[in-house]
Amino acid sequence: MTKGWSKSDWRAKARIQMPDYPDTAALNAVEAQLAKYPPLVFAGEARRLKKQLGLAAEGRAFLLQGGDCAESFAEFSADNIRDTFRVMLQMAVVLTFGAKVPVIKVGRMAGQFAKPRSAGTEVVGGQELPSYRGDIINGFDFTPEARVPDPQRMLQAYTQAAASLNLLRAFSTGGFADIHRVHSWTLGFAESDKAERYREISNRISDALDFMNAAGINSDTAHSLSTVDFYTSHEALLLEYEEALCRIDSITGQPVAGSGHMIWIGDRTRQPDGAHVEFARGVLNPVGLKCGPTTTAEDLKLLMAKLNPANEAGRLTLIARFGAGKVGDNLPRLIRTVREEGANVLWTCDPMHGNTIKAASGYKTRPFESVLREVREFFAIHKAEGTIPGGVHFEMTGKDVTECTGGLRAVTDEDLSDRYHTACDPRLNASQSLELAFLVAEELSSRRDGARRMAL
Ligand code: PEP
Ligand code: CO
Repeated sequence: MTKGWSKSDWRAKARIQMPDYPDTAALNAVEAQLAKYPPLVFAGEARRLKKQLGLAAEGRAFLLQGGDCAESFAEFSADNIRDTFRVMLQMAVVLTFGAKVPVIKVGRMAGQFAKPRSAGTEVVGGQELPSYRGDIINGFDFTPEARVPDPQRMLQAYTQAAASLNLLRAFSTGGFADIHRVHSWTLGFAESDKAERYREISNRISDALDFMNAAGINSDTAHSLSTVDFYTSHEALLLEYEEALCRIDSITGQPVAGSGHMIWIGDRTRQPDGAHVEFARGVLNPVGLKCGPTTTAEDLKLLMAKLNPANEAGRLTLIARFGAGKVGDNLPRLIRTVREEGANVLWTCDPMHGNTIKAASGYKTRPFESVLREVREFFAIHKAEGTIPGGVHFEMTGKDVTECTGGLRAVTDEDLSDRYHTACDPRLNASQSLELAFLVAEELSSRRDGARRMAL
């Protein structure tokens, strides 16, 4: 892909949001060990995802990307993985119905461990310690020992990612993902008292499945009804880990990030001449790029040229995260920049990171209404600009947590302390995630109707 690029070139660039490991010998030993381990994902899978994302950029597929803000060692369990996978499948069924195109499922899973922080240190009760940077780097406990960056954590993260992927691959093909099963769970949600407005979509999905069954198309005859493609993604923040898992694709001879199918660059580490862009530009995987209110047209041009010099379809996904009420000030100008450059990008919406507030109780939270409002603004602006809203990016979990406020089973500020388990940002719970999927499906139906009118 990139002539003259090497997987360690990032080391010569400005390094931000990464730890300074105190024990270099221990770090080098871990890197050498990881470099010998098998990659977690394979180049052919990353290429297949890239192709599908290319279709999403044209409106012929839709991307659902979701999962924890930060995976943690303590919350690692088969049940947690199953529950997040399950709610993503449910959301995908609902979205497929709205969009009438395939939904590409990408979990922020099996590698989403490292976190950028707004401050290098944290003060609690007069004591100042280095910030927690995710379980792959240091510990959450507020003690000087826990906060020391420990390279051994990379090995634990790798093991957890490998076990997570193993389970996800089994769930994807072993019968768990059968559409009839998934729809029966969705139906259960829509039948609850307050979910009346979702019942119609759910009933129509049931009718469609009944019709297909009568026509002889069911899980026994059609493989695609009983299995799914499920991909993984994470922010490629800890470049020592990324470099150690970088491999050469035997078919194309290109470097591939073996840590996950899709990697992205965060809002804080997207400097065009920085270490993170330098690493991502050389691997063949699909790459995500967060765009926020501070993304300038100049930077976006440089970034698109660096990250996708061949203007390849599906290579670059722009993940817009402006905050409700701010989309109108920012998205149109960036859409214009993309248009001026003739760049091939997939536009997706992250309605989480621009909508974080502090509740009176002190908890970081996100009001469901703001999340929904940002999604609606994203769709409305694309409609006005004649461009394609191609996907969504959520922080969510399949568990019944109380981290974001609002939704059908209204979580209030006072409820936040009940089940607040996130290691970093607040996530939508299972019910809020599914509700959002129904609401996005409504937006997608109108995207389709609009496209149809234009075709007539
Ligand atoms: C994240 O996705 O968890 C994150 C840190 O996002 P951003 O870079 O957009 O702030
Ligand atoms: Co986050």
